Amino acid sequence: MILIGPHQIDARAMLAPMSGVTDLPFREQARAFGANLVVSEMVASEELVTGGKQAWEKAALDDGAGIKILQLAGREPKWMFEAARIAQGEGADIIDINMGCPAKRVTSGLSGSALMRNLDHAMSLIEATLSAVSIPLTLKMRLGWDHDTINAPELANRAQCAGVTMITVHGRTRQQFYKGKADWSRVRDVRSAIKIPLVVNGDISDTSSAQDALRQSGADLVMIGRAAEGSPWLIGEVDAGLREQSASVPVSRKIEGLQKQLDRSLSFYGDHIGLRMMRKHFSAFVRNEFDGNAELRRQLCQNDTAFGIFDVLERLKTGSRLAA
Ligand SMILES: Cc1cc2nc3c(=O)[nH]c(=O)nc-3n(C[C@H](O)[C@H](O)[C@H](O)COP(=O)(O)O)c2cc1C
Repeated sequence: MILIGPHQIDARAMLAPMSGVTDLPFREQARAFGANLVVSEMVASEELVTGGKQAWEKAALDDGAGIKILQLAGREPKWMFEAARIAQGEGADIIDINMGCPAKRVTSGLSGSALMRNLDHAMSLIEATLSAVSIPLTLKMRLGWDHDTINAPELANRAQCAGVTMITVHGRTRQQFYKGKADWSRVRDVRSAIKIPLVVNGDISDTSSAQDALRQSGADLVMIGRAAEGSPWLIGEVDAGLREQSASVPVSRKIEGLQKQLDRSLSFYGDHIGLRMMRKHFSAFVRNEFDGNAELRRQLCQNDTAFGIFDVLERLKTGSRLAA
């Protein structure tokens, strides 16, 4: 059980925010399969305030009973302030700030992990956000900008002193992007620097790696990103595994989950985009569950009609492995 502001949350594993992946239809499925904590995709604060359609789609929150976390990115306190107000008004229970994204288009705008190069500026964004809302604020970061400037412990400690209520650390520097292996043991330095809940992230893909990451970092829970793509049930499975419960999901239920996600994606984005958004999920699903079977991937990802895809999934569910 962890405490984020007033919220007591029973979670050992949570879904990472992933732009273009963890949209509302995906997060709803992750929840349905047992994830208690999921985070929206990163929403650019300025775009949310100025009313971009895509920003609003990314900021859409489910209306289920669970805790809703909306992630904001930005580099100017005034936009963070305004966007945080909007997020609270839209029903977010928690706001998360992204100080971990390594993408050039984000860091060149001096947001995401670029904020770790200037902690005073990073703190000005945190303070602006805190002053805008009464809901809790959490923070996601990397170990630092590069190996010579590992400053996650300092940023985490300053954020805690300002009032941030949970910290997530991806065990890589920004300069590593996704290369090498996440160093969970370096996250332990953040553990020593803060008392609020700590989340360890990076390269966690099953219960065994989650156990290792928790042991090495001293964190309270794990966050899983890429391994969950195409597998919205993974968070629930790992969460249960960390409690020494078995939660392996039969393949027919997984396929049913994908059908529901497809249905929701079509109603959320409209048919054309809804179908397109599902392709990366189908492709990851085939990779994870069917050894990347090329024929199945073709049938799911190059099919232009939702009806045709439902049919392929239905046949897969009922045992004919590939549609004829
Ligand atoms: C496609 C993609 C999109 C991402 N988008 C975000 C984002 O919007 N916000 C964020 O804080 N991190 C984002 N990340 C980083 C992940 O949340 C996570 O920190 C990283 O992938 C490491 O965890 P993993 O090894 O479990 O994937 C993204 C990662 C990927 C691969």
